[in-house]
Amino acid sequence: MSEQTKAFYVTTPIYYVNDAPHIGHAYTTAAGDVLTRWHRQRGEDVWFLTGTDEHGEKVLRTAQANGVEPQQWADRLVEQAWLPVLETIDAANDDFIRTTELRHTERVQQFLQGLKDSGEIYEGDYEGPYCVHCEEFKLPGDLIEGEGDQAGQLLCKIHGRPVEIVSETNWFFRLSTYADALLAHYEANPSAVQPQSAYNEVIAFIRGGLQDLSISRSSFDWGIPVPWDPSQVVYVWFDALLNYATAVGLGDGPGTPGAAKFAATWPADVHLVGKDILRFHAVIWPAMLMASGLPLPRKVFAHGWLLVGGEKMSKSKLTGIAPSQIIDHFGSDAFRYYFLRAIVFGSDGSFSWEDMSARYTSELANGLGNLASRAAAMVVRYRSGLLPAPSAYLEADLDLQRLLATTVPLVDEAVLSLDFAGGLSAVKAYVDAVNGYVTEQAPWVLAKEPENEARLSTVLYTICESLRAIAVLYHPVMPKATTSLWDQLGAAAGLGELSAQPVQEAGQWGQLTPGAVVTKGEALFPRLEESRDHGQSPRLEESRDDGQSPRLEEPEEQSA
Ligand code: ME8
Ligand code: MG
Repeated sequence: MSEQTKAFYVTTPIYYVNDAPHIGHAYTTAAGDVLTRWHRQRGEDVWFLTGTDEHGEKVLRTAQANGVEPQQWADRLVEQAWLPVLETIDAANDDFIRTTELRHTERVQQFLQGLKDSGEIYEGDYEGPYCVHCEEFKLPGDLIEGEGDQAGQLLCKIHGRPVEIVSETNWFFRLSTYADALLAHYEANPSAVQPQSAYNEVIAFIRGGLQDLSISRSSFDWGIPVPWDPSQVVYVWFDALLNYATAVGLGDGPGTPGAAKFAATWPADVHLVGKDILRFHAVIWPAMLMASGLPLPRKVFAHGWLLVGGEKMSKSKLTGIAPSQIIDHFGSDAFRYYFLRAIVFGSDGSFSWEDMSARYTSELANGLGNLASRAAAMVVRYRSGLLPAPSAYLEADLDLQRLLATTVPLVDEAVLSLDFAGGLSAVKAYVDAVNGYVTEQAPWVLAKEPENEARLSTVLYTICESLRAIAVLYHPVMPKATTSLWDQLGAAAGLGELSAQPVQEAGQWGQLTPGAVVTKGEALFPRLEESRDHGQSPRLEESRDDGQSPRLEEPEEQSA
């Protein structure tokens, strides 16, 4: 592949297998999935990578505490938790890398040897506070004084857990020599770290001065052996960061499939990370790449934290909510929609059942779901399920067409810049406008007089055609509900698969073919039943099978 066809390459962090995923991990992966589905639906080549980080002391200690070998522990967690969660949240990743795979470990060793040979690595001593939950040596500014039980101890700011003083002879990477080059890079590429607050943090951190980085450990052996010194294993972050490049063939010789994949994929377009691991991605990682002469990632985007009681939801504090706890009740579409719609990407946010239920009901069940079921029910009832051809458009119809035409580029721009909440709120505003149109046009009134037949056709077509565009725009976010909507609109016969509809052309009016067979299917978003044990997980009602949309019977019709 040539440079012009380089894939749009998106990564998530590779997650530690010390425990099962919670909704914080699912949040990052869902965002990556929405972003990549959007780009795919723009007709671009895309590569979406996620995976697991399996080495290091944290995973080793967890395995030991559970009385199994670390590899066995990692295998179990990957099979039983990390792979299944991808299905649960409906992620369409192209690859899944595990750092214990040979394709990774061999390339890490080769990369490291390259740095050693070019004088980037030297042997030295280090003593300092280490947080095993971060897997990081800490600077004084990263620590807080313990209180109560922990008085007299220094705690990691992120985890609130005591750090340990580690003293070892290790191999060091000359990170300090890259400060100026990094600053110059970020000055020239101000969008290489986002949002702005993350950019500012990174610049300030680099300006504060960089120390060389200890990149090996000798006190335990759960890691990749340092090729020239098997008494040491590679520091887990040095190993883990390389996954983004090893997974696409880093260092493979000319003419190999790995080399072709690397040329077609690297550099990454977006590394999605939580703000907890920003520095690793925006300081250490680009310096590693500079040291070996490789192109730097185009963007690191650090999103905010999902909070519980004002603190970062975390495995180590046992405040994690499993994605299935939410998805069993609301479905994967609503999960994906909610977290990207309710929290500005880049800011922190709290999850609450109440807020999620409220938005589910108002925006999905009542807003979009009801619109879809009314539309299908009316075409079935008034036109025997065949989509009518529109006749002359009036101002109200043209208003909707114009709104759609301006909405589509707005949504496209928002999603391309990772403003998911902005993009989703623009689509939602369009859904609201269509609902307003239905109320104003009152097709059930038009249906009573035969002389309104042409007008009714135009109104029904306008509603269904609007839903066609909504299905296309929401497909990357809610693949299941929109596929069902596409079926109900009978759109595939004339337009083909929903995933093949280019998002940037969604605003072109008149794509649905008159005569398409419209059917009333299951509710896109089943209504939530009030929970008996208040505030607890609401349950979903069986979807209605009476063929009547709850709000189709408007007062006018009932009085007839
Ligand atoms: O840090 N809110 O793995 P990890 C939002 N293995 N996102 C959250 C979150 C929360 N409360 N909790 C976790 C590691 N995340 C390393 C990464 S990459 C080369 C190595 C998400 O299992 C978020 O993306 O601790 C965060 O950065 C990541 O999970 C950390 O996962
Ligand atoms: Mg973590």
